[in-house]
Amino acid sequence: MQIKLEELPAPQVYFTMTQTMLPRPIAWLLTENDDAGYNLAPFSYFNAVCSDPPLAIVSIGKQDDGRDKDSIRNIRERHEFVIHIASCDQLAALNQSSATLPPRESEVEASDLELTRVPGFRMPRLADCKIAFFCERHDIQMIGSKKQQSLLFAEIKEIYVADDCAEINPQGRLKIHADKVQPLSRLGASEYASFGEVLSVKRPA
Ligand SMILES: Cc1cc2nc3c(=O)[nH]c(=O)nc-3n(C[C@H](O)[C@H](O)[C@H](O)COP(=O)(O)O)c2cc1C
Repeated sequence: MQIKLEELPAPQVYFTMTQTMLPRPIAWLLTENDDAGYNLAPFSYFNAVCSDPPLAIVSIGKQDDGRDKDSIRNIRERHEFVIHIASCDQLAALNQSSATLPPRESEVEASDLELTRVPGFRMPRLADCKIAFFCERHDIQMIGSKKQQSLLFAEIKEIYVADDCAEINPQGRLKIHADKVQPLSRLGASEYASFGEVLSVKRPA
């Protein structure tokens, strides 16, 4: 099958792209509302794009009615935020956090998720996530034609890794045990992938 995207209407382009770009990591994004409550939502148009400076991108679309999503509005107004990597056993909570709640209604308060303070950073993190990126807004660019998306460049200032998922190996380098993180990833539509086998191979010289 050969699929020409220019012949498809926009919703089908979305479904085709999200079912073929597989699997995608998910940014579980915690931002601060203007009443000091917290907003939480998942975004799978997400990846690392640069390490100097350390940057990740998250692409955030509009609500169906054309309004900005709460996450990007919060980040425009307050430049600090936290991206978490969810584990497979957090799928139900992550999915629930994608519900569209009225502005200022907190997905965190509507869930059983707990926050924990982070020394030296204004925002808390989700206590049960194995990895969290403490970020500042680096840039936001508008992309897309009719329905514009906000392409957020997140500058990663610090990273939290749960002690049971990390060690310093005999060469003095950080080693993250991905099998202990069990990162959840996104497929198309309502499908997700659990963590599989770790394959290890040396790069050619
Ligand atoms: C796994 C998953 C991935 C998602 N990825 C994106 C994405 O990359 N971009 C986007 O705009 N919305 C994405 N969504 C939808 C948002 O999570 C949803 O619109 C959410 O209500 C936004 O919340 P907010 O208004 O509190 O920011 C995703 C939803 C799920 C369940």
